[in-house]
Order: sequence, then structure tokens, then C-alpha cells
Amino acid sequence: MVATPRARIVGTGMYVPPEVTTNYDLEKLMETSDEWIRQRSGIVERRYAAAGLGPSDLALEASKAALDMAGVKSTDLDMIIFATLSPDYYFPGSGAFLQDYLGCGTTPALDIRNQCSGFLYGLNVAQAFITSGLYKRVLLVGAECHSRALDFSTPGRDVSVLFGDGAGAVVLAPSDDPKRGILSTHVYAEGAHRDLLKIEAPSTRQSPMISPASIAEGTHYPKMEGRQVFKHAVTRMPEAVATALKHNGMTPDDVDLYLFHQANLRINEAVMKQLEQPLAKTYNNIERYGNCSAASIPMCLDEVVRSGRVKAGDQICMASFGAGFMWASAMMRW
Ligand code: ACO
Repeated sequence: MVATPRARIVGTGMYVPPEVTTNYDLEKLMETSDEWIRQRSGIVERRYAAAGLGPSDLALEASKAALDMAGVKSTDLDMIIFATLSPDYYFPGSGAFLQDYLGCGTTPALDIRNQCSGFLYGLNVAQAFITSGLYKRVLLVGAECHSRALDFSTPGRDVSVLFGDGAGAVVLAPSDDPKRGILSTHVYAEGAHRDLLKIEAPSTRQSPMISPASIAEGTHYPKMEGRQVFKHAVTRMPEAVATALKHNGMTPDDVDLYLFHQANLRINEAVMKQLEQPLAKTYNNIERYGNCSAASIPMCLDEVVRSGRVKAGDQICMASFGAGFMWASAMMRW
């Protein structure tokens, strides 16, 4: 019998635009304060891409870095998976942009709309593609230009201070070492809570999809029941981590590094507390980049890989929670 190949991340990359917006900059636009933002979320600054750019432009830079580390040419990719909640166009998806920018000929591109869990949902799909033997080299990207859809006036402050623009990418291939690679992925959704965090317009539930009236109502801006989202996040993320641990016969102590979605530092601290793990075993970059949704986890991963914090054989547990609600976990041995 032929053993099922394990999928392994063989390259990582990230890109953030150079333009920094600090909490103090936001104080000039709305009634908020550096103190409120830091205390509630841990965020100090974030990046906003220059006008004219979309998530695919940021994704291109992150992808080039990941392909370079992997030693894989874009023309050798079998599949591109693009996760974003802030796509370049309503359609076609951002995967079409990136596929063209990378000069990939007719390589397929799959678009994923799973918000802050987009990267781990994409990892679940990429793992299935590789372990089934269907594809060998898969590029998975999470990229966001949140800054285009934020209300920078005081009514929008509860959401707008939290988000930033950025991209993270990984290249996956069958592992040449059966012990290393993606050990498990678990993905979940509970659509009953879809209205607790959303951007409604443009929407095919209304005609036209967007109108002066819907713009005046602000339906093109995100709306979030922050406390509800927080409450569910601090329950679902530890649950998903527990599932990953049980699936792999591990205890929390067996994990060398926890990488969580970067929605709020307080959420991640609460998850580590529930796991009875020291904060030193997690890594966050939310203070510099804010919440970059589908890009947050691969951006963290790229930083820990390039800084040398991660060594071969390290066990890394990832978890996310976001709009939908959708949440996920993944375990890998680096
Ligand atoms: N600056 C100053 N004051 C503010 C701001 C701001 N930017 N935003 C809200 N406030 C005010 C509110 O109006 C409220 O004032 P009031 O007491 O006079 O009514 C007060 O601050 C407290 O507001 P809360 O919303 O209760 O603040 P809370 O402590 O819950 O923190 C936060 C808000 C940070 C948004 C938190 O609820 C949170 O992190 N929620 C989860 C976010 C998340 O996980 N999102 C999922 C991922 S995103 C995705 O999937 C797209």
C-alpha cells in the first residue's frame, strides 16, 4: 500500500504596506484614544495600503517571498488558494488577479471567503489536495485591504481601530519526512451568528446591490457586536485547540508554539490562560499590524520562521475565530 503523503509548509512569506497609521493618527479622525485601543485590543499601529492597490498586490509580494523560500517557481504550482474578506472585485475573485501576476498560465485558482478563519480553512483544503495526491505544490495566501471598508468617523470607531492591511503566504508540498508537516486541521461554522459581524453591501438581497440609500445607512461598513464575538471567541478557540490536541494524542505542554488569529491580544491571553500555558509560548504581532483577518496567522508564521524562533521538529498549534461565525485549529510539526 502507498503511504498517504503528509502536507508540509516548505516556504513562508508576508508583506505589509509601508504606510503606518498609529493610534494617535486615528485620534485625529474620530473620538478615540491610544489608551482605549491599547488597553482593549493591544494594538499600537497598523498599515494601510496606498490607494489603487488591492489585496492581490499585497499577496503577490508575500507569495514571491514564500515561493523563494520554498525554491518553487510560480509556473510549477498546481493550485493557488486565495483567502480574503476584502477582495479586489466583487467578482472574479482575487485568485484570478494573483494567478495572472505570478505568470501562472492556466494554473487553477480557488477563492476562499471564510474571514478571519480563511487561512486555516485554506490549509484544510490544501492538506486534502496534497494528502489525496491530487496536487503536489499548492500556494495558499491570505491577504486583506481592510482599510477600504472602514468607517473612520466616531460611529465606526469600535471596528475601524482594530483592522489593518497585510498579506501572508505559504507554499505546501508533500513532506519528504513522514514525521514533519500538517498533523491535523479542524474547521467549524455556526451560521446562526452571521449577523453579529458582517458587511452587508453590496448585497444581492437588495436591488440595486448598493445604492445612495444603503451607503447613507452605512451598510458597506462592518458592523460588529464586539462583546458577543469576544465571548464566543474565548470559548471556541480553546475548544478547537483541545480537539487538535486530542486528535494528536498531545497535551498543551507538548506544543512548542501557539499561533492564534490576531483579533485582540486579550482574546489570545484568555485562550493561553484556559490552556494553562505561559504567554511566552505564543507569538503576536497585532500591536504592529492590527487584525489582518485571513493574513494574520501566515504573517505571524513568517515572522517566527524568519526570526529563527521555530526549529525543525517544533510542534505548532494554530487557531482562529471570526465572522460567520467560523473557527478552526491546525497542528503541525515543523
Ligand atoms: N475608542 C474609544 N471608545 C470606544 C471605541 C474606540 N475606538 N470603540 C468603542 N468605544 C466605547 C463604546 O462606545 C463603549 O462606550 P459606552 O460604555 O459609553 O457605551 C465603550 O467604549 C465600551 O465598548 P465595548 O464595545 O463594550 O468594549 P469592549 O470592552 O467589549 O471592547 C472590542 C471592544 C475590542 C471590539 C472587543 O469587544 C473585541 O475584541 N471583540 C472581538 C473582536 C473579534 O474577535 N473579532 C473577530 C475577528 S474579526 C473577523 O472575523 C472579520
